[in-house]
Amino acid sequence: TPIYYVNDKPHIGHAYTSLACDVMSRFKRLDGFNVYFLTGTDEHGQKVEKAASCQNIQPKDFTDSVSQRFQNLTYEMGFSNDDFIRTTEERHYKAAQALWKSLLEKGDIYLGHYEGWYAIRDEAFYMEADTEVKDGVRYAKESGAEVEWVKEESYFFKLSAYQDKLLSFYTKNPDFIMPKSRYNEVVSFVKSGLKDLSVSRTGLKWGIPVPGDEKHVMYVWLDALTNYLTALDYPNTENKKFKNFWPANLHMVGKDIIRFHAVYWPAFLMSAEIELPKRIFAHGWWTNEGKKISKSLGNVIDPLELKEEYGLDALRYFLLREVPFGNDGDFSHASIINRMNGELANELGNLAQRVFSMIHKNCDEKLPKPGELFPEDTDLMDLITVTLNESRKNIDKQAFHEMLESIWKLIRAANQYVDFQAPWNLKKTDIERMYTVLWVLAETIRNIAILLLPTIPTSSQKILNHLGVAEEDRLFKKIGKEGQLSWGMEIQKPKPIFPKYIKEE
Ligand code: ME8
Ligand code: MG
Repeated sequence: TPIYYVNDKPHIGHAYTSLACDVMSRFKRLDGFNVYFLTGTDEHGQKVEKAASCQNIQPKDFTDSVSQRFQNLTYEMGFSNDDFIRTTEERHYKAAQALWKSLLEKGDIYLGHYEGWYAIRDEAFYMEADTEVKDGVRYAKESGAEVEWVKEESYFFKLSAYQDKLLSFYTKNPDFIMPKSRYNEVVSFVKSGLKDLSVSRTGLKWGIPVPGDEKHVMYVWLDALTNYLTALDYPNTENKKFKNFWPANLHMVGKDIIRFHAVYWPAFLMSAEIELPKRIFAHGWWTNEGKKISKSLGNVIDPLELKEEYGLDALRYFLLREVPFGNDGDFSHASIINRMNGELANELGNLAQRVFSMIHKNCDEKLPKPGELFPEDTDLMDLITVTLNESRKNIDKQAFHEMLESIWKLIRAANQYVDFQAPWNLKKTDIERMYTVLWVLAETIRNIAILLLPTIPTSSQKILNHLGVAEEDRLFKKIGKEGQLSWGMEIQKPKPIFPKYIKEE
């Protein structure tokens, strides 16, 4: 994930990016991969220094407390990150200074003067043409952040020297930047011409000192981007962690910071002769009931309040299902309630509830033994492997919504199968056939629950517990039509997994 600025408490946007990475990570682990999921906090720079001084707190004390809130968010959201990095840690100072030295030795850093516009909110430099004046105040056009004039001694990175190298890299690696619209945006930005980048500041103290010239601190973006290497013990690139996990398969970011990740970061890495990450995925932007989320509008959404109100799994499901990943999305209470009562309660919840109840009531509280399978049984069970393969394809292109849609196709097929087979009628006419139908359904539900483990872990675990699936069998390699459940196993009277959400008046 990006490392988040600790100028303010976390909101729904931060939870969103990390959630996507959590689902990716859980999916890949269940599918047999070795995963390193990194998140953390970005703690230096003018924006954070200013937020601390507004509250009359020393920057370090301030960042300790805000970073703690981000760590708490990862815990509350059930994120499975392997590490949480803070740029104020010693290990990070070492890595950032080592990267600086490496760019310097390459001859890509030189001393000069910066004079121009700077937006503290974005921690970004802007050309005058990219700003505009409204009511006497100057703003960056793209982000709407206020800019101020900066004039100071500064070190520069020879970004201009990397223009052609970057363009040829993008051409050779068309999946390096996703989605396609972002790829096109970056390519046209780089084609329009790259200027050297100011990479140090003298106007503030809250940063990592430039090696050998301590009146400068490193530009916060050079500092922050290095975090991806720090966590793997850079500059020690000979260690196992670095060899295993670099180059990263994915940097997940919001579209607001694509330029830093897809232009500056690869240029720094090229200069340091370090391999580039495999992909930068820039997702879209959430608004709140149609409005931009901002502190000044007072409409910041606290993910922990949503968790409290709707439950963690409903929130996780909603965020990834509501919006095609990559597009912008709008949060509304009506739409989360809609998803909860429709797909979660009526479709998934009801499937498990009615199948478990029927088994409990009609099969002596035990999983029944199946007889011969009919084509309609194998049709349903064949769909399981199809769904797994589609899920793999979708997760590899970060299409979370499509992964969920394909799993819901299976859930809908299972519900149709229940309606069509009508086991409640078979009870009177052909009890052996009813046993088979209920066994097929229990098997299908087992597979659905494994497929849903990455997205809604708590509820999926509940379903698997109900079916008595052993911990070590909750893996993708156990998915398939062969069937894993043993008949005779006790099935208790179920409690609803997803009760309907009814707003208390
Ligand atoms: O940019 N919708 O940190 P940041 C969707 N420290 N995602 C959102 C969002 C919204 N409304 N608001 C925030 C920084 N995000 C730097 C990153 S990385 C080396 C340094 C998410 O705290 C989204 O991922 O401003 C966005 O890119 C990120 O939070 C920005 O977090
Ligand atoms: Mg930001």
